[in-house]
Amino acid sequence: MEKPAKISAAQVRADFNDLHAVVHYTRAAHELGLWKSERLLIERFFPERDAPLLEAGCGAGRVTLGLWSLGYRRLTAFDFAQELIDQAISLATERGATPIRFLHADATQLPPGLCHLLDDKPGVPPIGESSHRCHLIDDKVDHGSRRERPAQEEERGTECAGVPFAGALFMFNGLMQIPGRENRRVALRELHRVCRPGAPLLFTTHDRDHSPTECALWRLETLRWIRGEQDPRLVEFGDRYFEDQACRTFMHLPDRREILEDLAATGWRHEFDEMRAKLAREPRAVRDFSDECRFWVAQRA
Ligand SMILES: C[S@@+](CC[C@H](N)C(=O)[O-])C[C@H]1O[C@@H](n2cnc3c(N)ncnc32)[C@H](O)[C@@H]1O
Repeated sequence: MEKPAKISAAQVRADFNDLHAVVHYTRAAHELGLWKSERLLIERFFPERDAPLLEAGCGAGRVTLGLWSLGYRRLTAFDFAQELIDQAISLATERGATPIRFLHADATQLPPGLCHLLDDKPGVPPIGESSHRCHLIDDKVDHGSRRERPAQEEERGTECAGVPFAGALFMFNGLMQIPGRENRRVALRELHRVCRPGAPLLFTTHDRDHSPTECALWRLETLRWIRGEQDPRLVEFGDRYFEDQACRTFMHLPDRREILEDLAATGWRHEFDEMRAKLAREPRAVRDFSDECRFWVAQRA
C-alpha cells in the first residue's frame, strides 16, 4: 500500500480554505473578538496605538478587528488562506475599518516589498484604488513545501527596505501550523526581517509539558515514534493532525525549550511567556473555541 503523503503547507492552506474552517473562524471574528488574555498582553507590550503593526495568520480578522476596536490604526494583516482574507475584508468593511491593509501572503515567503507598502502616516487609505486587498501570493505556485529560494528571493537580503514594523503578532497558534521546524524558523526570520530593532513579537503555542495528562499522552506518543508506529503523515515529533466538527487541523505542539531555541536562532530575544490560565479567566465561549495555550513575547534583537 502507498504511504500517505506528509502534511504540507499546501494541505494546511487547503484545510483553512475549506468551508467548515471558514465558517468557524468567521464566526469567531464576528462574535468572539479578542480574548481577555490577548487584550491584556497587547495593551502591555504594544502601548502605542499609532505604531505600524503586522499581524501574521490573521484568518477572518478576529484579532485584527479586535486591535482596530482598541484604537490601533496602522494595521497590516496577512494570511495565506484567501477565503479567510476575503472574510476579514468583508468584516473590516462592515465595521468601517477600511484603512486596515489585508494581504494574501505566506509567512515563510513574505513579499520583498512588504515594508514599502507601509505608509508612514496613520489613517491613510491603503494601497490599491478602492479596495484594501493586496494579492501577493501567486496561486499558480505550489506552496506545498518549502522550496529552495530562487535568486530573486536571495536578493531581498536580510533587512526590510522601507518602513519596518514596530511590532508583530502571530496569534492563536498560527506559527505552529507551519509544518516543519525549519519552516517555522524561516517564518520567524521573515518577521524579524520586516520589524525594527526592539519590536515585540506576540504569539501563542501549545505546551507539551503543561499538565500531567499531556505529559502522559506524549510519553505514549514517544513510544509510538520509537516503534515507528506514529501517524505517517506527521512531519516531526510533536505534530498532530486531527479532525473535529469544526475543521481539519495540523498543529505542532512544542515544549518550552524548543521555542526558546527557535527564538534565539532567528534573532528574537525572549522577553515573556506564561500559560493563558495564569493570565486571565477566559469566558466559556473562549475556552470552547480554543484550548489552553502558552503566550510568548520576544523582542527583535
Ligand atoms: C488558528 S488560525 C487563527 C486565525 C486568527 N488569527 C484567529 O485567531 O482567529 C491560524 C491562521 O494562520 C494561518 N496560517 C498558517 N500558516 C500560515 C502561513 N505560512 N502564512 C500565512 N498564514 C498562515 C492560517 O491560514 C490561519 O488563518
